[in-house]
Amino acid sequence: MQAFTDRWVSGFAKLYEENPLAQISWFTGTVSPVLADLVIDGTLARGQRVVDLGCGAGVAAAFLARHGMTVTGVDASATALAAAEQLAALYGVELELIQADLLKTTLPDESADVVNDSFIYHNVRPEARAAYAAEVGRILKPGGLFVMVGFSDRMTPGSGPIRLTSDDVLDPFLPGFEVEELRRFRNLPTEARPDQWHWLGVFRKRAQTPLA
Ligand SMILES: C[S@@+](CC[C@H](N)C(=O)[O-])C[C@H]1O[C@@H](n2cnc3c(N)ncnc32)[C@H](O)[C@@H]1O
Repeated sequence: MQAFTDRWVSGFAKLYEENPLAQISWFTGTVSPVLADLVIDGTLARGQRVVDLGCGAGVAAAFLARHGMTVTGVDASATALAAAEQLAALYGVELELIQADLLKTTLPDESADVVNDSFIYHNVRPEARAAYAAEVGRILKPGGLFVMVGFSDRMTPGSGPIRLTSDDVLDPFLPGFEVEELRRFRNLPTEARPDQWHWLGVFRKRAQTPLA
């Protein structure tokens, strides 16, 4: 099954190859303020093993590595991973970068303290959401954290990622995760969409998944 919606698969797969980062409409050049807050309050801490799923050009991955985490970035795009490698070199941090599909990351079971999702889940096609949640759950250690930022249903309608309802975010994750936080917040504006209302989801993997 394809992880992302057709729009991404057909239209955006070559985005990084054909555009400098500054021309990619959603590229803000920095992490979401809520991700920085999680570092400031110690939820994301030095020494943790983090997987940045769909790491793109590595902005979040390099940021988290700069703050002492051991970070693996996973992305389908070789061009994006090459950009992430350049960013890591510029920062002077190490990143493990893996070209793989989101639904089959090839990462070992229960190996991560944190899975970070910056603008990934809102592009996952609805029929792949359960498989995505299962892959996140497989990679995370029991008690590990899933941190998700993506478009909410308070964004103006239009093209682009899915405007997720709270049920869209919660339903696939509730069987295996406790919800620590789910709230909308204003993220950085872009030229194309100044009014960015996004979700922050912070979900903790249950020590034991309930029996089906
Ligand atoms: C909207 S970008 C977000 C990138 C990055 N997380 C950020 O915040 O800038 C989505 C990313 O998902 C990657 N991607 C799309 N489909 C994928 C798949 N099936 N498996 C792995 N990565 C995929 C794209 O190459 C792209 O880097």
